[in-house]
This record gives sequence, structure tokens and C-alpha cells, in this order.
Amino acid sequence: MSVHAERKSWSVPQLAQARAAGQRLAMLTCYDASFARVLDDAGIDLILVGDSLGMVVQGHASTLPVRVEDIAYHTAAVARGAPRALKIADFPFGADATPALALEAAVRFIQAGAAMVKLEGAGHKLEVIRFLVEREIPVCAHLGLTPQSVLRMGGFKVQGREQAAAERLRADALAVAEAGAALLVLEGVPAALAAEITAASPIPTIGIGAGPGCDGQVLVLHDLLGIDTGHRKPKFVKDFLAEGGSIAGAVRAYLQAVRSGAFPTEEHSYA
Ligand code: KIV
Repeated sequence: MSVHAERKSWSVPQLAQARAAGQRLAMLTCYDASFARVLDDAGIDLILVGDSLGMVVQGHASTLPVRVEDIAYHTAAVARGAPRALKIADFPFGADATPALALEAAVRFIQAGAAMVKLEGAGHKLEVIRFLVEREIPVCAHLGLTPQSVLRMGGFKVQGREQAAAERLRADALAVAEAGAALLVLEGVPAALAAEITAASPIPTIGIGAGPGCDGQVLVLHDLLGIDTGHRKPKFVKDFLAEGGSIAGAVRAYLQAVRSGAFPTEEHSYA
């Protein structure tokens, strides 16, 4: 029997409440209704319809070719499968370049079933965050290794190792919260820096390759299931299928490991 009826749906204000209560948040990416149902039934808190779909679903070498219609399509599918988890739709490359463009895409994502939108970076994106939040669209920021910056960064590289870069990350984390973001993804950041940013952050942080000191964790679903997507697996990835014994079991094992603080460990973190 589905457990949908037994659990309450997530709302945006509950993210801060969960953090205040010391509950670690478990997020996974998802792109279709059937997997979304498995995640929802297992009790995953947050589902990200990430532009990672460009790499793990569409087979591209980066996330850059993903279009607004792709995210809207997959968000609608996920929303049909997962009524309970908080759904976050990811802006694809270029779709959040101006406040007007971002609003147009965000309205499509919200109408497809998302409760929040995610964008990469700070700088000129602070204006976009403010613009959306003032128009009742909750925003998740994403800092550190931002995959849409792959051309500038020259690859998918850990960020914030040098002092100046670490200081910029600390300042950007405060700035996105000040602009109105309600959640912050930290990707590919040294564990000590991510823990420091989390301690200073007024909003919950979700780590991926950012060590155990964040308020929650996210993994790409294909990585959790050990699927070979043709891309190099970073060290923060863990295949939960072996210990879970089934797809639903793997999702439950991940949820439990995030909740208890058993995942990630130093082995999955950068110095
Ligand atoms: O697109 C995505 O899946 C993401 C996560 C890896 C955070 O941005």
C-alpha cells in the first residue's frame, strides 16, 4: 500500500523548521513519475528535477544543452508521481540570465508542479533571486562547483580551496540568503569550508561533495543506483543499491544514512 496518505506534504517554510529541529534533509534528483513515486513512498524530503538530466538522461557531456521545455516536461512527470516531497525545478543554462527570462521559465516550472526553483551562482543572479522571491517564487541557490560554469572553470573542479575563493564563497552564501533564497546547495566545496558556511548561514544548506557538515545532502539518482552514465564518478558518489538490495531499499538506505549522519563520510569529502 502506498504511504502517500500517511505522510504530510512538504512546504517551503518547513525547511527552516526542520533545520531548527535538527532534522537533516534528504534530497535526490529525479526525472520521471515512476522513480518519483518510489522516492516519495520511501520518504525522501526533497526532489530536484536537475539539469543533470542533460547528462544522465539525454546523454550530453555537460548540462549546457538542456532547455526550459525539458525541465518543465520532467517536472510535470515527477509531480504526478510524488505528491508529498517538495519538488525543485532547476533553471537550465541561460534561462535565468535576466529577471524577465527567469520569471517566464519559473512560472512554467511552478505550473508544472514545482514548489521552488534552483539557480546557480550569485553576482548578477542576486537580482534574479530578489525579483522571483518578490513575485512569490521560492528560490534555492547553488554555489561552489556550479556545473553551468564548466566552460569558465575548464572542467568540473572543486571550488573554494584558495583563500580568496573561499572568502568569495562565504560572502556569496550570505548574499543569496539576504536576497531571499530559502535553501542553498553547496557542491564540490572542501568539507571544512562547507561546515563553516553552514554554521553562518541563515538558511539550510544541502551538500553534494561538500562533506558531512551541511544541513542535508543531495545525490543524482543514477549515482545512488550505481548506474554507469558514461561520466567519471566523483569521490562523493556512493552506490546504495548493494546495501539496499532493491531500488526502494537503496533509497531508504540513503535516507537513513543522511538522517543519521552516516553519509557522507570523510571518504566522500574534499579537503
Ligand atoms: O542538476 C543537478 O542534478 C544538480 C545537483 C547535482 C545539485 O544541480
